[in-house]
Amino acid sequence: MTPIKPSQGASGARILGIGAYRPRRRVTNDELAQTMDTNDEWIQGRVGIAERRWAAEDETLVEMAVAAGGKAIAASGLAPSEIDMVVVASASLRVPIPGIGPQVGHRLGVNRPGAFDLNAGCAGFCYALGVVDNAIRTGAARNALVVGVERLTDVTDLTDRGTAVIFADGAGAAVVGAADEPGIGPVAWGSDGDQHTAIAIPEGLPHMTMAGQAVYRWATTKLTETLQAAMDRAGVTAADIDVFAPHQANLRIIESMAKKLGFGEKTVIARDIVQSGNTSAASIPLALSALIESGEAKSGDLALVLGYGAGLTFAGQVLRLP
Ligand code: UT7
Repeated sequence: MTPIKPSQGASGARILGIGAYRPRRRVTNDELAQTMDTNDEWIQGRVGIAERRWAAEDETLVEMAVAAGGKAIAASGLAPSEIDMVVVASASLRVPIPGIGPQVGHRLGVNRPGAFDLNAGCAGFCYALGVVDNAIRTGAARNALVVGVERLTDVTDLTDRGTAVIFADGAGAAVVGAADEPGIGPVAWGSDGDQHTAIAIPEGLPHMTMAGQAVYRWATTKLTETLQAAMDRAGVTAADIDVFAPHQANLRIIESMAKKLGFGEKTVIARDIVQSGNTSAASIPLALSALIESGEAKSGDLALVLGYGAGLTFAGQVLRLP
């Protein structure tokens, strides 16, 4: 029998560059209060959002993904021709065929990459990072582009105060490349499919519904162990974490997780939700990019990330920032 050669890859993978795209239009809480029964005090107090970005017609998923991806490639120092894998995480594709990964790669000048879309709800970016980390370490890819992009306003009832004040649009991206020293820790991922109806577009409806309180309870009680597992698998403790950037779903969830993990003054906590709202698969790279741009996060910092959402899915890992 002719043996099949085993795959051989790099000993590690690390993020080489991060980029983001924020839609032009800012929507304040006061603006929303003009069309629905809500107010700035409720939104800031219960969710922590002061404003969010809503995409215009021309700010399509592909355009936003290309803009964020282009910035990540520029920051990585790689040429597009050196990238051989493109994964686009999104939960708001209105047209399922074709997926947008190949188009995003093509638009960015990436030559015939392995390309596909991934839907793991708001956990999509961290799932995608886990996939490309494994691909690079097994030799299936050398350098990969990961994009999280959403137009949640397309799948949100913009007259429903329960969801319209929360969900928003945007894109974030990272280039991941082969490295001698691992810069991405083993992914801690999983799902609770028994709660698949908690965040969903129910059959026959054009819009998303969310059992907010149930998801809130789940996020604040069940996910601390996943954050701990991500740190354990990477061989680090909470004291080693410089930046905590969980999915930006609710400021109160972010603060609760940070408190449970014992993060003090030394750890920078991502609070991009205040300016960006909940952008699902885009929220973590958007938050990391904002912290890098402001100088709050520095090159070489250890970041702990965790995505969670529709599915219900969750995925987290420890990252070395570029
Ligand atoms: O991204 C995927 C993961 N998603 C999450 O992690 C979301 C988790 N859930 C949450 O963040 C919160 O549950 C929400 C922000 C969605 C809602 O906050 P809440 O504190 O759980 O509010 P609630 O749904 O329990 O509603 C409390 C009250 C209700 O009024 P009554 O029945 O007490 O009179 C709502 O009708 O607040 C009312 N309400 C609002 N009032 C003003 C709900 N939405 C609004 C609003 N403005 N926009």
